[in-house]
Amino acid sequence: MNTTYYGHSCFGIEYAGKSMLFDPFVRPNALAAHIDVDSICPDILLLSHGHEDHVADAVEIAIRSKAQCVSIYELHSWLLSQGVSHSHPMNIGGEWTFDDWKVRMTPALHSNSLPDGQYGGLAAGFVISHAEEPTFYFAGDTALFSDMQLISKRQSLDLAFLPLGGNFTMDVQDAVHAALWLGVKKVVGMHYDTFGFIRMDHNEAVAAFSNAGIQLELLNIGETRTY
Ligand code: NI
Ligand code: MN
Repeated sequence: MNTTYYGHSCFGIEYAGKSMLFDPFVRPNALAAHIDVDSICPDILLLSHGHEDHVADAVEIAIRSKAQCVSIYELHSWLLSQGVSHSHPMNIGGEWTFDDWKVRMTPALHSNSLPDGQYGGLAAGFVISHAEEPTFYFAGDTALFSDMQLISKRQSLDLAFLPLGGNFTMDVQDAVHAALWLGVKKVVGMHYDTFGFIRMDHNEAVAAFSNAGIQLELLNIGETRTY
């Protein structure tokens, strides 16, 4: 899977011949000013929750690309009201198979509201799997919670995308704990540095994971890595 970082919690992932996009927040992100949003054209758009820093560019990209959107029921309903036509509703604990890849919606310990202030349902994460690709967990925004131990009970994980910046989500110390519970040896960091509240020392973060035997990947915005 080729993973391109678009800043904050937004990743484009080439997976089983499809292009997935998670949590697009690019146009309002000054750190991602060099990213051309018009060139992002996913087949699948996955949204963890409705906060602005996860859906800012979602409607524009969804309508233009006609991507298959996946989100929790309340966020799905909001997408439909915004003119998005290809949307699939899910809820926590559910799994769905699209073609040959699977998505499972996991809990996240976080609030959720829609851009217009409406109730957004629960915040969520995703486990994505395919027979010939790594199985990965995209945590969305979340605190550390002990039920993370259950996520890898059902299927072992090769990689986890975890928030690191603290204040709104777990910080590095808790993310190391999460990685140990998830049983992953590799973590891709997200949700750090975008705002003053979530600035992070990169060297300290890498060292904290390394001390626990885990490799932390911090991508430059615009960079692509293969997992
Ligand atoms: Ni949030
Ligand atoms: Mn957020």
